[in-house]
Amino acid sequence: MTVPVITIDGPAASGKGTIAERAANALGFHYLDSGALYRLAALASLEAGIDLSDGPAAEAVARNLKPVFRDSRIWLEGRDVTEAIRTEKVGVAASQVAAIPGVRKALFDLQRNAAQAPGLVADGRDMGTVVFPEAPLKIFMTASAAVRAERRAKQLEARGLKADREALTRDLEERDRRDRERAAAPLKPAEDAKLLDTSDMTIEEVVKKVLDWWQLAR
Ligand code: C5P
Repeated sequence: MTVPVITIDGPAASGKGTIAERAANALGFHYLDSGALYRLAALASLEAGIDLSDGPAAEAVARNLKPVFRDSRIWLEGRDVTEAIRTEKVGVAASQVAAIPGVRKALFDLQRNAAQAPGLVADGRDMGTVVFPEAPLKIFMTASAAVRAERRAKQLEARGLKADREALTRDLEERDRRDRERAAAPLKPAEDAKLLDTSDMTIEEVVKKVLDWWQLAR
């Protein structure tokens, strides 16, 4: 039996993570935050002091990653890195290592293996185009740059971190440009993806839309 998968792709801070997690909870499905894997590869690379444009070195780091996801926390080599991977610095570094084809290859199986019964909601940049092209429901979620910067600022503040809105907007735009323009698995909607602009929608409205689409797609 193939495991049903819903993919949600889109630019940084478009709300994918929140929506994917809530939709997964509502359906009793597993949830894959694929961006966390790229963030883990970036954090480990930064800490190893390697040059982020050194493809083979970054790939070796990604291949050796053994993250543990438990009770909504993420552990790396026995250390809780849940907060450490969420900084903008690590986000920007993640988009640098994510442009390296070998890093993407190294993380591919970890992502495919997340498709376990009874189902999976996966969010990222290439879930619908590369990792789960067979998914019966693919969503490409966007929101205006201003709305995304504000959402990311609130997320950081909720974690007790400082948020500089101007710097955030700049970082998001830089990251999105790199994600869209890279040759390996660029950020773009799958041909059969449903487009959803969430700028003027509440979280509840977006979750309902996803669940309604799922009723029709399954
Ligand atoms: O989703 P999040 O913002 O945490 O992802 C961090 C970075 O990881 C993105 O900017 C992108 O470069 C990369 N990424 C990716 N493919 C994915 C998920 C994330 O390239 N499926």
